[in-house]
Amino acid sequence: MIIAVDGPAGAGKSTVARILARKLGFLYIDTGAMYRALTLKAIESKIPVSQEQRIIELAENVRIDLRNNADGSLTVILDGRDVSLDIRRPQITQFVSDVAKIRDVRQILVKMQRALGERGDCVLDGRDIGTVVFPDAEKKFFIDASAQERAMRRYKELKGLKQNVTQEDVAKDLSNRDQIDSTRQASPLRKAADAIYIDTTNLSIEQVVDKMLGFIK
Ligand code: DC
Repeated sequence: MIIAVDGPAGAGKSTVARILARKLGFLYIDTGAMYRALTLKAIESKIPVSQEQRIIELAENVRIDLRNNADGSLTVILDGRDVSLDIRRPQITQFVSDVAKIRDVRQILVKMQRALGERGDCVLDGRDIGTVVFPDAEKKFFIDASAQERAMRRYKELKGLKQNVTQEDVAKDLSNRDQIDSTRQASPLRKAADAIYIDTTNLSIEQVVDKMLGFIK
């Protein structure tokens, strides 16, 4: 069974998708982490995101693995190296939407995501899971929250990772990414017609997961 979880940045998708996968005993696939890992590789290879052809070549040769750990956390492995923390750096966040808007990059990563999903029961979170990656997913959710709430949550998360950011920077970054992710030509962020919409602004993580479980069972 495939469960698709889409929505804008900071809506809590990854948190609820991870918990949901764990509760169901499903594999959790964070597709945003894959775009982030490729962005890290581009930055380390000193390739500006504007050089699309070179980024596409990187994507063709990259190896990205996602490992679900027993404690529910996810390890992201780029060409054999653990980059789970590196991919959350502000510099990656700043450029990832520009990498993710390249059509051929998306095609390559979508292929990887389908191959991972075809291994069995899984929960995938991203922007285009229910619309493009798995349009026939058995259950689809669109997780949303107000822009203010999303900025606050992302700020707290980054502070927890000991990153030196201001609330204002986080709000600006989110609105910039919302803009790029939802207006790009290649599979923009949008709710699939058959996705269940959940506004999480005033809900706790547990309440959201319970709601989702209610729809699945
Ligand atoms: O969920 P996240 O913040 O880690 O995602 C990072 C970026 O990757 C986000 O700005 C949009 C992009 N992305 C995408 O275009 N498609 C996906 N399936 C997942 C993420």
